[in-house]
Amino acid sequence: MSATESGTPEPTTPEPAAVELDGVGRTFGNVIALRDVSLRVRAGEVTCVLGDNGAGKSTLIKTLAGVHPPTSGTYRVAGEPVTFGSPRDALAAGIATVYQDLATVPLMSVWRNFFLGSEPRKGWGPWRRIDVARAKEVARTELAAMGIDVRDVDQPVGTLSGGERQAVAIARAVYFGAKVLILDEPTSALGVKQSGVVLKYVAQARERGIAVVLITHNPHHAFLVGDHFFLLNRGRMTQDWTREQVTLDELVAAMAGGAELDTLAHELEGIRRP
Ligand SMILES: Nc1ncnc2c1ncn2[C@@H]1O[C@H](COP(=O)(O)OP(=O)(O)OP(=O)(O)O)[C@@H](O)[C@H]1O
Ligand SMILES: [Mg+2]
Repeated sequence: MSATESGTPEPTTPEPAAVELDGVGRTFGNVIALRDVSLRVRAGEVTCVLGDNGAGKSTLIKTLAGVHPPTSGTYRVAGEPVTFGSPRDALAAGIATVYQDLATVPLMSVWRNFFLGSEPRKGWGPWRRIDVARAKEVARTELAAMGIDVRDVDQPVGTLSGGERQAVAIARAVYFGAKVLILDEPTSALGVKQSGVVLKYVAQARERGIAVVLITHNPHHAFLVGDHFFLLNRGRMTQDWTREQVTLDELVAAMAGGAELDTLAHELEGIRRP
């Protein structure tokens, strides 16, 4: 645990974390989804949050994204305590979230997906309309800048691969000035190659100075791009490692739960036919 989490307010630090949770809890009736969670996310870094099913990952994201306000603790953005009433408030503060399946609209074209209601316009009064040519051009160049080669921005997003669809959502968030980019298991449904594509964009977003929060249950993917690793276990933050403090093997073991795997190995051995 770092010295900054000792409980007392920090003395003047040069740069506050882009977003920070301090002792945050979230309950749903009797269910405690998050308990005393502290998390610091810095600009220009990839902060990975790892956790098994039901650990509270989605709840954590929704807390950061303004969907679920914390029931206890403090949420700070750039050092200032905030209370977001809706995801729109969070977005206005530069916090963009890419949800796994809802990131894009399959039947809409790539360029419409890139803008999703924020298209550039031209003309005045009743003649005001979407500047289609400019919108397509911006979408094309922005996607190319992220290394995404879309042959035709008129094609429906549904015709792109899963990795490319995630990439479009990431490029959109970057273009619209996200300071914090939250990605909910962006690689969980993807194969090795497509996962690599997405992880490349994650690294590119980081290089642009964005604070990236990568939620995943894949320690290998986390280790490829992560600067900081948090482990969420049944609603509690049980580990807080910088890259120097952890090896891939340790991350894998922490995720797999070494002892639980040993038990499982024994049980499976018992099922085997003699
Ligand atoms: N809206 C809700 N109402 C009641 N309980 C909820 C709600 N959202 C989450 N929970 C509970 O909080 C706990 C954490 O759920 P959460 O979805 O955050 O886990 P997760 O880490 O995202 O899991 P997964 O990997 O399966 O997506 C679970 O026990 C879940 O049932
Ligand atoms: Mg989830």
